[in-house]
Amino acid sequence: MLKVENLKLGYDNVPVIFDVSLEVHEKEVVSIVGSNGAGKSTILRGLSGVIKPMAGTITFMGETINHVPAHRLVEMGMAHVPEGRQLFGKLSVRENLMLGAYVLKDEKTKKDCLEQVYDLFPRLKEREDQAAETFSGGEQQMLAIARGL
Ligand SMILES: Nc1ncnc2c1ncn2[C@@H]1O[C@H](COP(=O)(O)OP(=O)(O)O)[C@@H](O)[C@H]1O
Ligand SMILES: [Mg+2]
Repeated sequence: MLKVENLKLGYDNVPVIFDVSLEVHEKEVVSIVGSNGAGKSTILRGLSGVIKPMAGTITFMGETINHVPAHRLVEMGMAHVPEGRQLFGKLSVRENLMLGAYVLKDEKTKKDCLEQVYDLFPRLKEREDQAAETFSGGEQQMLAIARGL
């Protein structure tokens, strides 16, 4: 699904990570482990298109995505669940999930997706009308992951 080859990323032309290669296959979970400041978040920002590669290639579902803008990547199925969650605190659980589903045009697909994440995280269904900011940290993390899915 995802292939990263010799990726170089950085900020303002100052490289931060060099020669990173990895592959993620369907139904596989891949973790990147490293100390603070090692460049984990930078790699994820590169994958989700927030910053653009200085060298190397990123291939997603058979397509080179080096220059694909972030909003297009979301439509292709790439979602970045941010470390700090960044939920819309005043909005309800359901409204946050609907924002995650804004790229889905078909109402039936949206409804099926919602059911899937409610199956995964029943807590969210129980509290779908509750404001996100009143959730505990762990519950907010569930919501952030569910919104990405
Ligand atoms: N927006 C930014 N501008 C400049 N440097 C940054 C920026 N974000 C991160 N960095 C630098 O890039 C390096 C890697 O950071 P980061 O990817 O956040 O590491 P990690 O997620 O592994 O803790 C660090 O040296 C950090 O200071
Ligand atoms: Mg980080």
